[in-house]
Amino acid sequence: VVGQSLLQILSERYEELRARYGLGLRLVAVADSTGAVTKASGLNPAQVLQVKKGGGLKGLKDGNYTDDLPGFLGELEADILIDATPTNIVDGEPSYSFIRSAILHGLDVVTVSKGALALYFPALKELAAHRGVVLRFSGTVGGGMPVIEFGKECGRADRLEKIIGVLNGTTNYILSRMEETGQTFREALGEAQRLGYAERDPTLDISGLDTACKITILANEVLGKGATLSDVKVSGIEEIGVDEVRTARERGLAVRLLGVADGRRLEVSPQTVGERDPLAVKGALNAITFKATHSGSHTITGKGAGGPETATSILRDLVAVKKMRVAEASNI
Ligand SMILES: NC(=O)c1ccc[n+]([C@@H]2O[C@H](COP(=O)([O-])OP(=O)(O)OC[C@H]3O[C@@H](n4cnc5c(N)ncnc54)[C@H](OP(=O)(O)O)[C@@H]3O)[C@@H](O)[C@H]2O)c1
Repeated sequence: VVGQSLLQILSERYEELRARYGLGLRLVAVADSTGAVTKASGLNPAQVLQVKKGGGLKGLKDGNYTDDLPGFLGELEADILIDATPTNIVDGEPSYSFIRSAILHGLDVVTVSKGALALYFPALKELAAHRGVVLRFSGTVGGGMPVIEFGKECGRADRLEKIIGVLNGTTNYILSRMEETGQTFREALGEAQRLGYAERDPTLDISGLDTACKITILANEVLGKGATLSDVKVSGIEEIGVDEVRTARERGLAVRLLGVADGRRLEVSPQTVGERDPLAVKGALNAITFKATHSGSHTITGKGAGGPETATSILRDLVAVKKMRVAEASNI
């Protein structure tokens, strides 16, 4: 989803990205679960997309095919790795090996995959700093919304005390539908799956673990905590009954799955919020509030997922890396 959206944007906006940001991207390799195709002079994004839509990358006749994943990274003349592999919260793979290998070979990294970061955030950041490479991950939280950048900005020249938010669109869709229609959890989940808001295996979302990954990443990057996924106390929405949702509604409240990070705790749990609270968003939306000591509460709201949206976060990170590298080069 995200990888193909990125290829689509690159094939449509190459010239604009070059003219506006100096981002003259050369795609020297692409990989999927079966292998990688490399070409030092650059692959054509539109052609890669067309071949991928029709099957596996092996069908790409332009370039050299290898099934040595992620070993091929060591053979590349590349500046940056973009990782859009699946999120795995058991061991972080394959993202962990790709990111680690890229850092060790001196590549900057942009990732949208949450597992490796949630499990090994402090270690990966330290490794990147030690090797002098940039590690960015805007798309891991809030899809196309600049949640991490917004949170950092809220804390600039102030003190952030708390982050609290609806960080998972699937569970928010289910809870909103239970609220609006009186459906049971199972019925609302079934509807979310039919409409494509929930995966066939929705475990990561409804258990609260996807939210836990995101609050771990925010706690590290925005609050400066050295936390990993195992530090988060997690409960999901599987046990939420329709009566609980109805009673809350009668009292002017809405049940929402919230991720919370502050000085004392890292937690994911269903909680009630006032129906006029900015966090009482409906449908598949996300909303995240950053509470600062002097400037107060600031909330960012929007669509928290989607291919083109998340691919835009990747571009935002690429522009940021480019800016940093240009600034460094001009200081030498
Ligand atoms: N979709 C969203 O809206 C969204 C939003 C924010 C963040 N994310 C995160 O972005 C990541 C990608 O999501 P997605 O929806 O694009 O997933 P997806 O459609 O399942 O795509 C995953 C891609 O990773 C490739 N892959 C799997 N194992 C690999 C391996 N061992 N080596 C190399 N490539 C491998 C797959 O290859 P094949 O094509 O061969 O299967 C596929 O191209 C996930 O971590 C997700 O949590 C997604």
